Amino acid sequence: MGVAVRPPALRHWFSHSIPLAIFALLLLYLSARSLGTRSCCGPRAQPCVPGGTAPFQVRQESGPLEAPERKQPPCVGPRGMLGRMMRPFHANLKPEGDVGLSPYLAGWRALVEFLTPLGSVFAFATREAFTKVTALEARVHGPDAEHYWSLAAMAAWEQRAGLLEQPGAAPRDPARSSGSRTLLLLHRALRWSQLCLHRVATGTLGGPDAGVQCSDAYRAALGPHHPWLVRQTARLAFLAFPGRRRLLELACPGATEAEARAALVRAAGTLEDVYNRTQSLLAERGLLQLA
Ligand SMILES: *[C@@H]1O[C@H](CO)[C@@H](O)[C@H](O)[C@H]1NC(C)=O
Repeated sequence: MGVAVRPPALRHWFSHSIPLAIFALLLLYLSARSLGTRSCCGPRAQPCVPGGTAPFQVRQESGPLEAPERKQPPCVGPRGMLGRMMRPFHANLKPEGDVGLSPYLAGWRALVEFLTPLGSVFAFATREAFTKVTALEARVHGPDAEHYWSLAAMAAWEQRAGLLEQPGAAPRDPARSSGSRTLLLLHRALRWSQLCLHRVATGTLGGPDAGVQCSDAYRAALGPHHPWLVRQTARLAFLAFPGRRRLLELACPGATEAEARAALVRAAGTLEDVYNRTQSLLAERGLLQLA
C-alpha cells in the first residue's frame, strides 16, 4: 500500500478543465440572465418599448378611428420585437442588387435585442455579433463613410484600397478586421438565426425539439468556422435550450401558438431574403473565403 499513485496527466487535465468549463457556463448563464432582466420584454409584457430608440412613425390611416381588427399579433406590429427587426432588414434590400449597410446594422441591433432574452445560447452568439455590429457602424459613420453606405461600395473600396485580408488569414488584431470580413462573420450568424427561427416555427409535435434543431443549424452554419473550444461551449449551451413552447411565447408574447409560429416564419423569411442577397453579393466578389 506504500505506493502513491500519481494522477496521470489526463486526470490532472480533467480535474482542472471541468470546473473551468462549469465556471464558463455559469458565467454564460449569468450574463444571459442579466441581459434578460434588462430587457423590457418579459413573457407577459406588453409590446416592447425600450428606452433610447427613435420613436416610430405613427401612420395616418385614412379611415375613421376604429378598434383595430386583430389580424396579426403585436410582436410583428411596429412596436413588436419581430416587427422592429423586419422593418430595417426589409429596408436594406432597397438598393436593387445591393445591401444598404445602415439598415442592415439596424436590423442586426434589433435581432440581437430579440434573441438575447431567449436563452443563454443566443446570448453567447449575439454578444459576439454585437461587437461586430458596433465595429461596422464605426465605419459607416467614420471618416471613410462615403465608401460604407452599401455592401457593394464597401467591398469595391476595400479591394481598391488593399484593405482586405488574405483569404482565410485572420487579422492580427480582430478589432482591425476589414469591413467586408466583419460583414461575412455577421452574415454567417444571420444564417444560423434564420435556420434556427424557421425550424422553431415549423417544428412538429414528436419531431426533434427546438434545442436539437437549433444545434443542428449551428453545426451547419457556424460550427465549421469556430474553433474546437467554442464549438464545445456552444454544444453545452444548447443543452439548456428553452423548449419550443417557451420560445414561441417569448418571441410573440400574448399570441396564440399558431400566430406565434406564423410570425416567426415571416421573420425567418425576411432573414432568408437578406441572407440570399448578401450571400450572392459576397460570392460574386470572392469574399466568402475571407474568414
Ligand atoms: C434563397 O436561396 C435559396 C437557394 O438559392 C432558395 O432555395 C430560396 O428559395 C431563397 N429564398 C428566398 C426567400 O428567396
